Amino acid sequence: MTLPLLVPDLPAPEVLMPYLQRMHAARQYSNFGPLVCEFETGLNARFSARSPVSLGLTTVANATLGLELALTALDLPPHSRVLVPALTFVATATAVLRAGHLPVLADVDAQSWLLTPEIARQAVAQGAVDAVLPVATFGAPHAMAGWHEFEQDTGIPVVIDAAAAFGSQWLDAPTGTAVFSLHATKCLPAGEGGFVVSSRPGLIARVRQLTNFGINLNPAAGVPVGMLVRIGTNAKMSEYHAAVGLASLDRWDERAALRRSMHADLRARLDAAATPALLRWQEMAEPVAAPTLLCVRLPSAQDRERLERVCAERHIMVRRWYQPLLNAMPALEKHSTCLPAPAAVKIATDLCGLPFYLGMAGGDAERVAEAVRAALGAKGAAPLVGSEGQHSA
Ligand SMILES: Cc1ncc(COP(=O)(O)O)c(C=O)c1O
Repeated sequence: MTLPLLVPDLPAPEVLMPYLQRMHAARQYSNFGPLVCEFETGLNARFSARSPVSLGLTTVANATLGLELALTALDLPPHSRVLVPALTFVATATAVLRAGHLPVLADVDAQSWLLTPEIARQAVAQGAVDAVLPVATFGAPHAMAGWHEFEQDTGIPVVIDAAAAFGSQWLDAPTGTAVFSLHATKCLPAGEGGFVVSSRPGLIARVRQLTNFGINLNPAAGVPVGMLVRIGTNAKMSEYHAAVGLASLDRWDERAALRRSMHADLRARLDAAATPALLRWQEMAEPVAAPTLLCVRLPSAQDRERLERVCAERHIMVRRWYQPLLNAMPALEKHSTCLPAPAAVKIATDLCGLPFYLGMAGGDAERVAEAVRAALGAKGAAPLVGSEGQHSA
């Protein structure tokens, strides 16, 4: 039987039922209903408990729209240059373009795989950068103190694409803005969804308005309620999605602990299968709180090709996450500027995503470890050329 790359872990229908019944009794299915508001309050409480300043939070239909609208709400001039890492999911760059700006593709740190404040400072020194959109790559969080200092020193706004980093990325500095995904494959799944959280004065109110077409709903705003004051879109979260999100939040701590322990177990099995220390892992101060992916660097491109071939023979799914890099995507070529990205290019030669999901049996984990053992113990076999391309998680 094929071993899948990942399997979504959503609350069962019976757990959703009380929330759905509440929704139906209130006869409100969208437009900032009671479940969306309760979900936002619950999320905000978690972030506020770790923040030195007051935060605003608003839900969105998905993180891609959240990124687009957070950038729009910064009110930058059209065609502003937004620094993004070359190693990320395509949505990071498409959100920049759909907000009317231009992606500037930057390198990542060779160890953390993140676009760091140091890399951003170098890019600023070399030319115009109007905003920075670092990515919490594969759920690894950014230290917000560094980005706070960057914002203070340069005056350039920073929005973290924390799509996969719920539970790991906090806004624990005096300034910060982040966008999270609640897609079915994420650790806090709502099916589809996302939210934007920020300490920036007025930003969340503007994002919320943009999710509701740009209509003014504030009687104290000095313009009539119902007046279109910005050119927004429909990016509201429905009550159905909030029901799933609330049920996911109820059990998040338990599922996160399970993810951490299963991930650590699989990683230990792989390290044991690839001695001496042949596998290279993303470096971070603390492990991801609720990992959803297992990504590892093989010793070489040939080793990755060999592992891919062994996995194909054994019906084990693998994926080259975030590849091709953004600077090799034809659709982005004429719209973006590419800075040198040697570390990202190197990572892209040997990064491999292997199966990991809740419910993965010990035997399945051993199957993956065996494939790694077979691939790395059999160097010299003919390489298999080819790329699976980018996929949304
Ligand atoms: C880094 C990154 N940004 C943005 C997104 C898009 O999130 P969503 O599917 O909620 O639009 C993803 C999705 O996996 C992602 O990995």
